[in-house]
Amino acid sequence: MTTVITVANLKGGVGKSTITIHLATAAQIAGIPTAIIDIDPDQQAAAKWSDSRNSDRPYVFSAVYSRLAQSISDAESKGINLIFIDTAAFEQKILTASVKVAHLILIPCRPTAQDVQYLTATTEIVANHQKPAAIVLNQVEPRLPETIQARSLITKLGLSLTPMYLSKAVAYQRSIAAGLGVTEYEPNGKAAKEILNLLEWISRLLLVSTDIPIDK
Ligand SMILES: Nc1ncnc2c1ncn2[C@@H]1O[C@H](COP(=O)(O)OP(=O)(O)OP(=O)(O)O)[C@@H](O)[C@H]1O
Ligand SMILES: [Mg+2]
Repeated sequence: MTTVITVANLKGGVGKSTITIHLATAAQIAGIPTAIIDIDPDQQAAAKWSDSRNSDRPYVFSAVYSRLAQSISDAESKGINLIFIDTAAFEQKILTASVKVAHLILIPCRPTAQDVQYLTATTEIVANHQKPAAIVLNQVEPRLPETIQARSLITKLGLSLTPMYLSKAVAYQRSIAAGLGVTEYEPNGKAAKEILNLLEWISRLLLVSTDIPIDK
């Protein structure tokens, strides 16, 4: 069966497309036939990244939220085992449709009070559909007091956090600008290790088999 991970947050600019692209590329390299379904109608960030790339793996499908089930079937018929859905900000219908088909919802969030306060708009929809979800802190500068405050506020809200975070790092941006995932761009860099650790955590949780060479 194909595993579907939706990357969602109704807030804009939190790292949905960035995390989708890097996780999907890392999964493909780890030997899992992987696709991205891009249902952000305006930005199409993952689809544009795919156009700029010298490889058609991971597959990136541009799709509309109202035909997600058909897009997932199309991907399955191409032998895809893992799908990441890149979603849009401020679009409840898109979020709801992508939550319904997901086995796990990953919710990127920057460690700021504004981002954390806005989380419940997304987590309430996820909870209404009784889907497992985890917040992944992104653009983290670990020494800032805001980071510690954000973690504690998220815990107080009773929301689940992934055990690892993603740092603020230019490699995440530069790799996408180069048409690459960060694990291709700087395989031994800190950002690549963060993505591989997150992918390993996801694959253990969802029992997706990988052959990821983890360098702890
Ligand atoms: N860990 C990171 N380190 C540095 N820059 C990052 C990181 N994550 C995301 N960014 C940058 O933050 C900006 C927003 O990221 P991204 O486009 O992935 O967010 P998004 O949630 O998909 O936005 P939208 O809601 O508009 O679709 C981009 O310029 C991206 O390069
Ligand atoms: Mg985006």
